[in-house]
Amino acid sequence: MLAVAILAAGKGTRMRSDLPKVLHQLGGKSLAEWVLDSLDEVNPVRRLVIVGYRGEMVQASLAQSPTNSLTPALEFVTQAEQLGTGHAVQQVLPYLKDFEGDLLVLNGDVPLLRATTIKRFLETHQASGNPASILTAHLPDPKGYGRVFCDSQNLLQQIVEDRDCTAAQKQNRRINAGVYCFNWKALAEVLPNLKAENDQKEYYLTDAVNFLQPVNVVDVGDYQEILGVNDRKQLANAYRILQERIKDDWMQQGITLIDPDSITIDDTVQLEADVIIEPQTHLRGKTLIQAGSRIGPGSLIENSQIGKNVTVLYSVVSNSSVADNCQIGPYTHFRGNVAVGTQCRIGNFVELKNTTLGDRTNVAHLSYLGDTTAGDRVNIGAGTIMANYDGVKKHRTTLGDRVKTGANSVLVAPITIGSDVTIAAGSTVTENIPEDCLVIARARPVIKPGWRLKSAEAESQTNK
Ligand code: UD1
Ligand code: CA
Repeated sequence: MLAVAILAAGKGTRMRSDLPKVLHQLGGKSLAEWVLDSLDEVNPVRRLVIVGYRGEMVQASLAQSPTNSLTPALEFVTQAEQLGTGHAVQQVLPYLKDFEGDLLVLNGDVPLLRATTIKRFLETHQASGNPASILTAHLPDPKGYGRVFCDSQNLLQQIVEDRDCTAAQKQNRRINAGVYCFNWKALAEVLPNLKAENDQKEYYLTDAVNFLQPVNVVDVGDYQEILGVNDRKQLANAYRILQERIKDDWMQQGITLIDPDSITIDDTVQLEADVIIEPQTHLRGKTLIQAGSRIGPGSLIENSQIGKNVTVLYSVVSNSSVADNCQIGPYTHFRGNVAVGTQCRIGNFVELKNTTLGDRTNVAHLSYLGDTTAGDRVNIGAGTIMANYDGVKKHRTTLGDRVKTGANSVLVAPITIGSDVTIAAGSTVTENIPEDCLVIARARPVIKPGWRLKSAEAESQTNK
């Protein structure tokens, strides 16, 4: 049986942030969510998260995350004062009183671990029968990490924190990844004996490891997996590594990325075959791009569904959906809650919000559609504006099928326009219109033959 404890109580002083470190975002998920997701291939019976600094906030954030719907339920353990990683694990003692099995401990700030690595680590631990195992790596730059010293059998002698190392010990590049597996009963016995006798005056989990012998030391193949995030620079570095991983993966799955270095893709994004992503394009959140679509250059798509064979050029699409075969942009802004039917053309300098359009409907130039429902084959003329706001409330505009609005028309909501209505250019329409008619709502021109400006006439007289 396996229980898991995630250490997420620290403030993360080196981040210089109000936000607890484990809630900092990395490609659409918080650091803590990444760590929880790395448990995908092991089957714990308990998932404990140790929280402290702004604990309610960490708890609320994880409670909303998709990982919270998985089993076993997350259990939150409070570490009221953060007296070190060993002290954090001490808080678990009452929760696992009668537990028999292994405890996997993960630092909440090590987000790039692969699920397969955790699985292999656990298998090695279980096969050995030893009371503890730690995951290690050889780092080109080990500064800041605990150094791992082993005997000739590759069994642990001791872990020494960077700040407690002698100059000679600092030369050792083998570091502690912050991933441990313990026989719980053995750990529970040594946990109460930890002493805060070190440079930080903290209770170190690494000391508990030092007390348990023999300890397996398992090297990870790809050292980038175990990089910890302690400051903003390391966060940016982790993001770069993650992006490389995500993009390599998509390219292997048949996605074309043009100039991948200029593109970012969240881990939560889904792409179908033969999608082409052009430069300077960013795909975020729960976004799906279906087969054959071409996104970019210069576009941001977040939490949106884009159908098949759609093009999106220099545009922003947020919290919206676009059905198959549409052309979007350049310079279209979907501000949220917009659903566009198939074969629509939404064009240059168009803003849409809270709006539903049917199939084959065009909004080609310079328009604002807010709180609007339009049917199929509607043509919104250049510069048409839905005046949806009366200064206090928002109101809805409803258009039937095959409506055509002339250039520069204004529809003042609330208003309903029947099907097959044509609105003349420059009209301001303020009342409901029945089906099948022409609406002209503008002043007729007044023409006065022979009329000239008085001063101009006087001037032409004197010049004679
Ligand atoms: C720790 C290890 C170090 C290892 C490194 C790997 C110890 C003493 N040192 O150092 O050997 O190389 O991780 O990344 O464990 N936390 C709590 N409560 C506390 C203190 C910390 O929950 O009282 C949490 C933090 O939120 C964080 C994790 O434990 O998620 C690690 O703490 P941190 O202070 O970052 O440890 P490091 O100095 O990086
Ligand atoms: Ca750390």
